[in-house]
Order: sequence, then C-alpha cells, then structure tokens
Amino acid sequence: MNKPFAIVTGASSGIGLELAAICAQEGFDLLVAADRPEIESAAERFRHVGADVTVVEADLATTEGVDQLWATAAGRPVDALLANAGHGQGHGFLDQDFDDARHVVDTNITGTIYLVQLVGRAMRSRGKGRILLTGSIAGFMPGTYQAVYNGTKAFVDSFSFALRAELKDTGVTVTCLMPGATETDFFERADMSDTKVGQDAKDDPADVARLGFDAMMRGDGDVVSGWKNKLQSAIANVTPAGVLAEQHRKMAEPGSGSAQKAKR
Ligand SMILES: NC(=O)c1ccc[n+]([C@@H]2O[C@H](COP(=O)([O-])OP(=O)(O)OC[C@H]3O[C@@H](n4cnc5c(N)ncnc54)[C@H](OP(=O)(O)O)[C@@H]3O)[C@@H](O)[C@H]2O)c1
Repeated sequence: MNKPFAIVTGASSGIGLELAAICAQEGFDLLVAADRPEIESAAERFRHVGADVTVVEADLATTEGVDQLWATAAGRPVDALLANAGHGQGHGFLDQDFDDARHVVDTNITGTIYLVQLVGRAMRSRGKGRILLTGSIAGFMPGTYQAVYNGTKAFVDSFSFALRAELKDTGVTVTCLMPGATETDFFERADMSDTKVGQDAKDDPADVARLGFDAMMRGDGDVVSGWKNKLQSAIANVTPAGVLAEQHRKMAEPGSGSAQKAKR
C-alpha cells in the first residue's frame, strides 16, 4: 500500500499494455482493465516485475463498466490514471453498423470522460495526481473512412487541454499522448487490414508508451510521438480541412493497401 497506484485502461494489448508494463517497472501497483479475458495474461507480465495487480474485465463504453472499475479501486488513492482504452472503425460511415460506430464514441469519449471525472475529483480533493489521456494525431485531421474515430480523437485532444487548464494550480496534471500510426491490434480490430495505413510500417508501441509515461511524469501538456508525426501534425495545423480529408482517403480507403498483404 506504500507504493504509488495507477489505473491503466486498455492494458491488454498495444500501447496500454506497454504503459502498464512501464508503470509496473517504475514501481506502481496497478488496477488494469480491458473488455476481454486477455487482460489476465497481461496482468501476469506486470506481476512478474513486482507490481500488485488487480484486474477488471468490463466494457468501458458503458457507465456500468466504468463504475465497476472505480468500485474495484476501493477508495485507494490513485496517483496516476492512464485512460488509454479506445478503438477505431474503418469503412465509410454510411456503411458502418450504427451500434459499432456508437461503441467507438462511447468507449473513446463517454466512458473515458466519465472515468476521468470520477478519478479526477478524488485527485483534486487530495491535491495530487497525474492523468494521461491517449488522444491521437488523428484528432488533427478529418478521418475519411474513419470519420467517427478521428472525431472522437479530436474530442480527446481538445478535452485534455481544457481539463489541464481547469486543473491548473490544483496539483493534478493532465497530459495528452498523441501517437501516430502504431503497430498494435488497432487496425485489424478496425477492419482496416486492406488499407495503406493498416499495412505501412508503424511506430513501436513500447517507444510510444515510454514517451507518454515520461511526459505524464513531467506533467507536460502533450506529447506527439516521433518526428514524422510531429511534422505531420504541424502541417495539419495550417492545411485546409478539405485537403486533409482527401489525404486521409488515400491512406484509409478500403483496398488502398496491397491485396497480398491484406490476405496475410
Ligand atoms: N495504434 C495506433 O495507430 C494508434 C494511434 C493513435 C492513438 N491510438 C490510441 O491508442 C489507444 C490504444 O490503442 P492500441 O493502438 O494500443 O490498440 P489495441 O492494441 O487494440 O488496444 C486497445 C486496448 O483498449 C481496450 N479496449 C478497447 N475498447 C474497450 C472497451 N470498450 N472497454 C474496455 N477496454 C477496451 C482493448 O481491450 P479489449 O481487447 O479487451 O477490448 C485493448 O486493451 C486507443 O485509445 C487508440 O485510439 C492508437
């Protein structure tokens, strides 16, 4: 109980798994959550480096799932909240199943801000805490063939800066990790394996997580992973939205990748 305590969502794979592993290495006890049973095997990895780990399997798109996670913390003071769970969905918006699209919104936005509110209030009362939100450079550009997802990340990027400003001088810091395309289960889960962005070389999730963790510990406002992504986001800031939307089409349109790679 003397160790610092972190909550990491989406810790079963990709960036969240690496964030939780770094927290464990850096001496945090952990409460980790994901929706599927793979979170149990991930937890073993974190225990291996000496963390006390509690696991919650819940759909964080729902307020019930977030309530279950928060109840499991059982009042233990949270030193760091790494709100990372999220997913995307490829294909044209009119061709998507509405429930699937809503699940993207409810996971990336509704569940995330509900958890941040619950944990953030407790942190503000203590006058201490660190919040890391996984946004994305996708939030800087209209996401043709990923329209809902990019919109949710624009929300997260914006929300993070606003909350940071609101919590100035409270002892609670808010940091936004903005990765570019990263080698995780994300693109397969979003049914984007046949797209250019799904097949191109991507960043290593361990490197991305390290950048995010260090930025959170310093209390920085944001961190964009990698120089190419930094350049891309700087250019996006001065490029008309219509041009960005057409650029996004080229990388996310179904079939924009190579057919051979898609079959693998
Ligand atoms: N990969 C990229 O290129 C990229 C770029 C920028 C930002 N991001 C962001 O990075 C974050 C992590 O994604 P990733 O790339 O690491 O993908 P990933 O490997 O698919 O990991 C996503 C994690 O989030 C969890 N999750 C998703 N929906 C959930 C829900 N409703 N309830 C509970 N857990 C849920 C997943 O657990 P289950 O499998 O159990 O659902 C998994 O642990 C996301 O917020 C994503 O938007 C990714």
